[in-house]
Amino acid sequence: MIDTESIKAGVKNEDRLEIIGGNRLTGKVKISGAKNAVLKLMAASLLANNNCLIRNVPRISDVETMIGVLKGLGAEASWQDESSLLINATNGLGYSAPDELVKEMRASVQVMGPLLARLGRVKLFQPGGCIIGQRPIDLHLKGFQALGAEVIEEHGYVYVQAKKLQGAEIHLDFPSVGATENIMAAAILAEGTTVIRNAAKEPEIIEEQNFYNRLGAKIRGAGTDTIRIEGVKRLNDREIDYMVIPDRIEAGTFMIAAAITGGDVLLEDVIPEHIEALTSKLREIGVSVSTDAETIRVKMDGKLKAADITVLPYPGFPTDLQPQITALMTVANGTSVITENVFGSRFRYVDELIRMGASIRVESRSAIVKGVNSLSGASVYAPDLRAGAALVIAGLAAEGLTELEGTTFLDRGYVDLEAKLSGLGAAIKRITYA
Ligand code: EPZ
Repeated sequence: MIDTESIKAGVKNEDRLEIIGGNRLTGKVKISGAKNAVLKLMAASLLANNNCLIRNVPRISDVETMIGVLKGLGAEASWQDESSLLINATNGLGYSAPDELVKEMRASVQVMGPLLARLGRVKLFQPGGCIIGQRPIDLHLKGFQALGAEVIEEHGYVYVQAKKLQGAEIHLDFPSVGATENIMAAAILAEGTTVIRNAAKEPEIIEEQNFYNRLGAKIRGAGTDTIRIEGVKRLNDREIDYMVIPDRIEAGTFMIAAAITGGDVLLEDVIPEHIEALTSKLREIGVSVSTDAETIRVKMDGKLKAADITVLPYPGFPTDLQPQITALMTVANGTSVITENVFGSRFRYVDELIRMGASIRVESRSAIVKGVNSLSGASVYAPDLRAGAALVIAGLAAEGLTELEGTTFLDRGYVDLEAKLSGLGAAIKRITYA
C-alpha cells in the first residue's frame, strides 16, 4: 500500500509542480502513445521469435520499469530513438520477474500469460493492492487454471505451471482488462481453442490481438465480449514493427483541462471513437467538442452544467478519467454525482480537492459534487497517477498558486505533461528536488 501519510509528512524527495491558475488553454497538443497498450505489447514481445520494434512509445517511468522487467527475465530491450523500443526475447528467458519491479508496478503481472505460454511456468511476487483499491489477480489465476495450469500461492509469491495448456471456455466474473490480456496470451500456444466470455473490450486489447496475430497467433473477437483463441504449435519467425495507438486517457485529460480553463484546444494524433464516452459527457456539460479522423477540438466558454457520471468498463465512461471529470465538476453549475463502479476506492484524492475549496461528499461508490464558483490554489498531494492529473486540472482553474507533490506518480503515465500544458498557455513549472 502507498503510505501517503509518511510521504505527506514531509518525505519530499521528489519534484513538485507549481501552477498559477486562471490561464485559458489554447493551441494544439500532440497526444503520445498509449501507456496501457505499450506495457502489454512489451510483455507480448516475450512470445516473439524475432525482433519486435514498437513505435510511438511514451518515455514514461512505467515503460522504463517494464524495460527492467523484460531485462530481468533475460530479454533485450532498448530505446532505438526518442519513441521506439526494440525488444528481443529469443535468448533463454527466466520465469521469474525481479521482485522489486513487480512491487513497483502492478502491470508487471502482464508477463504471466506470455511466460506461461512460452516456458510452461512463471513465478511472480504477489502484486499488492494500491491506493485505488484492492487489486487481486484471482480472475487471471482462475483463467490459467481453466487452461490446465497449476497455481500455488505461498510466501507472497504466485507460482503457475503447466506441462501442456489445453484450450477452454472461460467466463470472466468481471470484464477485467488484465485478466483478459493474460488469459489471451496464455492460450496462444495451448492445444485447442479457448473462448473468453465477458471479456474486456478496451481498445488496448484489440492492439494486443493485432500484435499477436502479426506474430502468427490466431485470435478473433478482441473489442467484443467474446474472444476466440485457436492454439497454434508455434509462432512465426517474422520481425514485427508496430505503431502503438494514441493514449485515450491522456487525450481525455487534456480535453478536460481545456474545458475547465474555458479554453480552445486542438488535440492531434487521437482516435476520437476511443474517447466517445467523455466526448458525449462533455457535450452534455455544455462543452463544444468537434472531431475529425485524427483530431479533437475542445472549446468552452460560459458556465459548465452539472451532470451525473457513471464509470463502467469500456465503452462506458473510463475509470481512468473519473478523478479528472470530478475535478471539472467541482466548478460546474449545480450538483453532480460521480459513481465509480470499477475500483474499490478511487476517491482518495477528494480530500485534496476539498483543500482547494471544492464541495464534495463521498458516499460509498459515489462522490456528490456541489459546484462552487471557483477553487483556490493550495499545497496538495497526488496519491496516484490519475489523482495527480485531477489536481493539475484543478490547479489550472484555481485562483492563485497550487503546489503539487506527487510528480513521481504523474511521471508514470504522462510524458512531458508540464511542457505540453505550458505550450497551451498554462502557468506551470516543475521545481526539481535538489
Ligand atoms: C487496467 O488495469 C489499467 N492498467 C488501469 O489503468 C485501468 O484503470 C483498468 O485496466 C480498468 O480499465 C493497465 O492497463 C496497465 P482490471 P487492470 O483488471 O488490468 C478487479 C491507469 O491509471 N479485478 O480491469 O489492473 C480489480 O480489482 C491504470 O492507467 C479482480 O477483482 O484492471 C478492479 O476493481 C489504473 N480480480 C477491476 O477488477 C482480478 O483478477 C478492474 O480491474 C482482476 C481484476
